[in-house]
Amino acid sequence: MTDSLFTPLTLRRTELPNRVMVSPMCQYSAEDGIATDWHLVHLGSRAVGGAGVVMMEATAVSPRGRISPGDLGIWSDDHADAVAGIADFVRSQGSVPAIQLAHAGRKASKHPPWEGSTPVPEDEGGWEVLAPSDDPYPYEGGDAPDTREMTGEDVDAVIDQFRAAAERALDAGFEIAEVHAAHGYLLHEFLSPVTNDRDDEYGGSFENRTRLVREVTRAVRDVWPEEKPVFVRISATDWLPDRESWDVEQSARLAPLLAEEGADLIDVSSGGIHPDQQVPDPGAGYQVPYAERVNEATDIAVGAVGGITEPEHADAIVRNGRADLAVVGREHLRNPYFTLEAAHELGEDVEWPVQYHRGTFD
Ligand code: FNR
Repeated sequence: MTDSLFTPLTLRRTELPNRVMVSPMCQYSAEDGIATDWHLVHLGSRAVGGAGVVMMEATAVSPRGRISPGDLGIWSDDHADAVAGIADFVRSQGSVPAIQLAHAGRKASKHPPWEGSTPVPEDEGGWEVLAPSDDPYPYEGGDAPDTREMTGEDVDAVIDQFRAAAERALDAGFEIAEVHAAHGYLLHEFLSPVTNDRDDEYGGSFENRTRLVREVTRAVRDVWPEEKPVFVRISATDWLPDRESWDVEQSARLAPLLAEEGADLIDVSSGGIHPDQQVPDPGAGYQVPYAERVNEATDIAVGAVGGITEPEHADAIVRNGRADLAVVGREHLRNPYFTLEAAHELGEDVEWPVQYHRGTFD
């Protein structure tokens, strides 16, 4: 039988009740990395709205790994305690609580989007950022923060930080850990020749550039229980075809290697490495073909994200076997109840929260 948007998906021994995932979306609303009421209400509402997986935003594995001073973090037990209630609440609504573990690399130390996403100077609370090479991100507004090429010790420390973050996330009650290797942040910076000029075992060849994401995935998998899934989000392409860059064929080659390290799903996004990127047409489902290509290259599951706003479209992506999971971002900012409404539109019978029974469509 063909799978649909409302066919449960079992990854390892974790059942996702449907194929809708709330895409990780930074809220820039944490205090020193600690979650606030905003996070509980924001993520909690999307769980009430029926999404099968609620993925918490990029959560920094170290203070330096935050995009902005308002990013969530999970570098101490206090940080983990602050998100445990969120994981609990999401689970109580029948959704699977998930966390994206992240390090922002050279794109760290920025103001939130509503303040222009420009770099925060060090004397205003910004910090020196880490990257595979010492080229700063080419900002248009404001000088880039000091950008330091990582030493071998820094690389080892980052792997340890991802491992420790995963351990804390597990203690906090999350059931899926996603490694953020997309959008021009640290792990993507290692993958892409645009940002990686290293001449040690982490730079140069495909094998070397992919080493860090493979090691991080393995470190997370080592502490993540056997019955629970690990996801990896990648940028399938840098959208810089005119220069040596990361592209879809390298992504297709990477996916089975990540599977060998214990990944269970590749969450396929794109872009973010350089402002010169040429995005052809960021319309409906614009990244789905990349998910499809990665899907062909690996036996593990694949998520499609980008411009998925309509229930019928999300359902068709799953029905046609293009991806296993429909990952929905901005539409969830407009409509926390996307999944409940999708069920109505697609004629599926799903359980609404009892408190909302009188609001059901029929
Ligand atoms: C994002 N995105 C994003 N991606 C990610 O991997 N980690 C993150 O924390 C964030 N943060 C974030 C914040 C906000 C406000 C937006 C709008 C987006 C990207 C997001 O997850 C998604 O991939 C894109 O928005 C494309 O999907 P949609 O929005 O077209 O469904």
